[in-house]
Amino acid sequence: MTAVMGQQGLDRGDQDRGAGHRDWDERLARRTHALGGSEITAILSLAGATDVITFSGGFPEPATFQAGVLADIAARLIAEEPGVALQYSATEGLVGIREYVSGRLAVQEGRAPGAGELMITSGGIDCMELLAKSYVDPGDVVVVEAPTYLGGIMAFRGYEADVRGVPIDDAGMRVEVLADLLAGGLRPKIVYTIPDYQNPAGLSMSAERRQELIDLARRYDFLILEDVAYRELGFGTTPPPSLWSLAPDVVLQAGTFSKIFSPGFRMGWAVGPADIIGRLIIAKQNSDQCAGALGQRMLEEYGRGGHLDRQVAASRVLYERRAGLTTEALAAHMPDGATWTTPTGGFYVWLTCPDGVDTVALSAAARAQKVAYVPGRPFYLEDAGVGANQIRISYSRVADDLIDEGIRRIADVVKSAL
Ligand SMILES: Cc1ncc(COP(=O)(O)O)c(C=O)c1O
Repeated sequence: MTAVMGQQGLDRGDQDRGAGHRDWDERLARRTHALGGSEITAILSLAGATDVITFSGGFPEPATFQAGVLADIAARLIAEEPGVALQYSATEGLVGIREYVSGRLAVQEGRAPGAGELMITSGGIDCMELLAKSYVDPGDVVVVEAPTYLGGIMAFRGYEADVRGVPIDDAGMRVEVLADLLAGGLRPKIVYTIPDYQNPAGLSMSAERRQELIDLARRYDFLILEDVAYRELGFGTTPPPSLWSLAPDVVLQAGTFSKIFSPGFRMGWAVGPADIIGRLIIAKQNSDQCAGALGQRMLEEYGRGGHLDRQVAASRVLYERRAGLTTEALAAHMPDGATWTTPTGGFYVWLTCPDGVDTVALSAAARAQKVAYVPGRPFYLEDAGVGANQIRISYSRVADDLIDEGIRRIADVVKSAL
């Protein structure tokens, strides 16, 4: 019987498997093995929790979303131009939004993109993914800040890059450490940095370091990927000139509207050397083909109507207030030996607990106290062996009147481990 079935390509084992459990993991592509991703999934899974004070995700405050204005714009666009707003767009983005973003860059950065140097992306992560897909071969070295944005690590790891970390301090990436590595023979293809109000540490790169990094890129022939996700969210401060504005020959800037407009639209931009943008456009053709046209048209209308600038101005005030409440609460509740950064923009405070505190292990206790944070460990590469006593506190979406209570709960959890 089995032999007969075998001849037909179906023995008893295959039959049993027909309805039973399949081990799909066994068949995963090799490049997914280094990927992780569970941390981001865990962060997003908490997004809807209502009874937890959530300092975990890098979420903008929903009160900053101008729902009424957007509803009017959407209704008008759908009624008046469905052939554009509800249609595919060119992969590099519709002309109108590219002109709008280009004009904004000219005002804010003092530099407008040349022909072919700008494209619209589906948020900030899209640019990283397209860059990695187009330029990273297995084993290529990509340097990131340590700590850095998890999505950046994942985008490069996803294409089997050899990702190396360079530490940061109060003046951003320690460029002199990178210089030593380069002098010692390291040859990165890409150096990824978040120079303004960094995720997760909230720190910014000084003007001097920016110039030094550019000098290294020109000398050692690597591309700087500059992520400006929080650049516009300074608290009464203007960050130093962007790397792209200083060195458009060696910098690709990844921008996103997720933090200043709404992540629900998945809108961003990439600006850099035309050859690179051309490659990213080809890569985007067979990823999502184009950012959604409705979002592109809505953002353009919203921006040209002055709403985006007003939203950014109001957001800065809101996040500055929350940052202040957070650092006040930390000073009031944290035990001796804990230190933290004082943000001058962006969404994050980076908390370092006394030695020996294991913030991953404490996550469960925090959940029991109905408070959530992201432990520091995943923001570093696994082999770094650091971050175990650190915590990223995202104050952006915690109501003013819950910040003190939330930080007190985190402090109690930390104290319980001492
Ligand atoms: C530094 C940084 N870059 C990029 C992103 C992702 O942006 P988007 O949601 O637009 O893909 C984030 C989001 O948290 C971020 O913190």
